[in-house]
Order: sequence, then C-alpha cells, then structure tokens
Amino acid sequence: MESNLILNKRNKNYAKECIDNIVEMGLDFKLQDNFRKRHVSESMIKEIYEMPENETRLEDIITLVKEQVLPYCSNFGTENFMGFPDAGNSIGGISGAVLSDFLQQNLINSSFCAPIATYMEIAVIRWLREIVGYKNIDVNNIWDVGGVITYGGTGSNSIAMLLARENHKENTMVNGVMTPEDYKVIIPKGIGHYSIKSSLMWIGCGDNVIEVPTIDYKYDLKELKKTLIENKGKIMCVVAYVGDSRSMTIDNLTEIYKIVKAVDNNIWLHADACHGFSLGFSEKLKSKISGIELFDSISTDPHKVLAVPYTVSALLLKNPNSLKKVTTTSDLIMKEDYAFGQVTPFIGSKSWMSLKVWFAFKNIGRKGIGEIIERRCQMAQYLKKNLENRKEYIVLNDVDINSVMFMYVGDKKNITMTLDKINIINKEIKKRMDEEGIYFLHQFSINDDNGKISKDAILYPLRYMSGNDNISEETIDKMLRYIDEIIKKLQD
Ligand SMILES: Cc1ncc(COP(=O)(O)O)c(C=O)c1O
Repeated sequence: MESNLILNKRNKNYAKECIDNIVEMGLDFKLQDNFRKRHVSESMIKEIYEMPENETRLEDIITLVKEQVLPYCSNFGTENFMGFPDAGNSIGGISGAVLSDFLQQNLINSSFCAPIATYMEIAVIRWLREIVGYKNIDVNNIWDVGGVITYGGTGSNSIAMLLARENHKENTMVNGVMTPEDYKVIIPKGIGHYSIKSSLMWIGCGDNVIEVPTIDYKYDLKELKKTLIENKGKIMCVVAYVGDSRSMTIDNLTEIYKIVKAVDNNIWLHADACHGFSLGFSEKLKSKISGIELFDSISTDPHKVLAVPYTVSALLLKNPNSLKKVTTTSDLIMKEDYAFGQVTPFIGSKSWMSLKVWFAFKNIGRKGIGEIIERRCQMAQYLKKNLENRKEYIVLNDVDINSVMFMYVGDKKNITMTLDKINIINKEIKKRMDEEGIYFLHQFSINDDNGKISKDAILYPLRYMSGNDNISEETIDKMLRYIDEIIKKLQD
C-alpha cells in the first residue's frame, strides 16, 4: 500500500488536505474570544507522556488535537489576552512562519544551505538597524552586517554579554574567566529581566550583577555614578531598559551614556530594547528612544512586538566589526564570507526565523507598523486615564509604552486597607480571572519605587500590556467591567 507518511509527488493532495485542516484549525483557534477554555489536570499528564509505539493516521491526530489539545492552549491572539504584547497575529507574519518551515533553509551557511535567505536575513537586520538609528555600511562579508538573528531576547542578551566580556578582557574566549568578580554588570534594581543575570552565569562570569536603585523605574543616576566610581575597572557592562518587562519604562538613555563614558570609556553599554525598539517605527514616538543609537548593542524582539509568531529576535551592534570578537570558525561548513554560523554563538543549524519578519515588514511597511505601534500606545493611555478617573484604582507607572500596572485599593483618597490586604485582594482578582480563562492580565511582584501606595513596599499589581491591533476602547471598557464584577463578587 502507498505510504502517506513521507511527502512525495503522489501523496501531495493528501498532504494538502491535512495541512489545510491544520491551517483552518489554527485560524479558528486564534480567532476565538477566550484566552483559555480548559485547565490541564494531573490525570491527563500521564497519558500525554505515553510513547506512541504504532502508527496513527494523521487525520486522526488532527481530530484528537482539535478536540483534546486546543481547548487547553493559551490564545495570545485574542483581544482578551492583555498580559503580553506577543499577539503573533499579522497575516504576513504567520504566512512567513509557515513558509519558512516548508523551505528548510539553514542560516548556518550561505553557499549551499541558505543562498538567498542569507541576503534576506541581512536585509531584515539592516532594516532593524535603521529603525533604531544605527548607520549601515556596505556589506562585503558577515562582519559588516552589524547584527544577528537569534531565538529570543534571552539569546540576544546572552550574545551581548559575551561581547561585553570579550571587550572587557580580550581573549577571555580562549583563556576563560579567571576572576569572575572582575566581570561585573550593572542592572536596574527590581526591574531587570532574568536573562542578563542568567546569561552571565552561563558564560562563566558568575552571579556578579550589581543592582542599582531606581526612581520611577529608571536608574537613580546619582547612584549609578556612585556605583561606577566605586567599582571602577571591574564593570564590564551597564544594561539599560528601553521598556523593562514589568513597567515598560524607557530609561534616560543619553544621560546613562554620558555618565558611564565619563567614568570609564571602555564599559560596554547594552540596551535591552526587546519591546521599546518598536517605537522607532513611528515618526511621532521615535524621539522617546533617542540616545539608543549611542549604545554598543541593542536587543530587539520582533516576536514580542511586531505581531509575528514565535520565535525571532535580533541583536544589533553599533560597530558591526565587534562580532569578530566572538567568531567561531570551522571548515566543516562555515568558512565563507557570508556564513552566519560564524557569528551566532550557542546556535548551530538555524531556521529562517527572519522570514516572518521580512513578510510582515514587506506587507505592512514601516509606516503601517508605526501606526500600529501608535494605536497600541494610545490604548494603554486610554486605560491609564480611565483608571486614574476612578476612585478605586491606582496606576503605579508612568505609561511610556504599552504597560499599565494598576491596583484595586478601595478608595485611593482614603485607603483603609492594609498593604497585605491590598496585595491579597489583587492576587484574588487575578486568581479568579485565571480560573475563568476569559481574560488574561499579568501579575508579578514589584517594588513601589515612587511611593504610589507605600514607598519601597512589594506590590502585586495587575498589569495590562497588549500588542493586539484589534484592541479598542470598547474591549478595554469590557475588561474593566469584568474586573468590577469580580470585585463585587469578592465583596459579597
Ligand atoms: C525586557 C526583556 N528582555 C528580554 C526578554 C527575554 O526575551 P525572550 O522571551 O524572547 O527570550 C524579555 C521577555 O519577556 C523582556 O521582557
């Protein structure tokens, strides 16, 4: 009997039918309203782990997944998902993602693995460089490109730390880290993303971050200067956030640059702009990130903010040549001018992740993306104003981009609840939301660094952050009415 397991010219129609069903299922999934329908139970997990010994028809697997897997999946594409911006719902982005899996180009090497993909990936990197204000130079080899595509912000931040390490003490790649305490990195206290600290441990620099206090979720510049002076010679890098993971605050980029360079010109300046680079698309908003172009490296995460599916990130370098410091050469497949594999530490075979960014960019255009980012920021401002006009909510952050951290406090003019009670009730609101699975807002602990409720207390706010262009004022009003209902039930 003809096998339908491996694609060949005779079973093309069968494959198409199956894949059409998958596409239909994926679209329906993304377009459903609820964030999640069901919760995975303990008893299901055992079954999930069972090894399939024999063949199952693909049609049966598709039916099984539709009925027994999808209801348990989280849908980041619904407007009701207001926890992260990663909607992944641009039609161009999804098309590019699907196609890249078909094409199976391997960006480790250009000549035989990815002949045109390499140049299109270079194009994407050059477009992103332009967006953040870096200059592009003529490209004659991979070291002129000024960036690399990675699997996520964590990967981009890790390569940035590797570059900072080499810049601090040349040949650490060869000699190893002898005295980790001499490879310190400064991050802002309480708002840094864990990927910096973790990557430093991964690359042998140990747990040597120094956390500098913040004001309004930005570096306290006096404290930053003091820390730089006290640790002179031992600081390899200062990391600034252009939209931190919690409050999406943009730091004082130009000021940080001046302070750091005045103390030690050799310190590597890294901007984690996984979110904030998106403002560079908008003529109206790009001044908010001015100064970013002064930094030595910039992490960007198109999969978070450009409505493209997971995963894709780009690390951009002010000086393209700096990637020479972490180059890997092997004549196995990489020794050629345009082999990206030479400059992508931690990564071997690499799929054409940038194709979905290329599709979305080409499809929407720079201007169109800028308009999407503007609408996204407007929606956050709308929510912020709405909350500020209501007596029962306090907004904790200045809304720079698209994050609104807020807490229910009863009556903000006369708070009678204890801090513990405020945290408990806000955690309870979140718990109820998660149980019902209709809406999703994020929650985490954060220091009340501007004293909106109680200076330096640990708070558990509800956090709105969306990147879904379908969100409207009505969607936000509905979500607030939903929270009001929960609060009412909690008080009954
Ligand atoms: C500011 C920031 N940097 C880095 C990362 C890590 O990115 P990824 O999840 O793509 O690895 C995140 C993720 O949320 C982030 O918010």
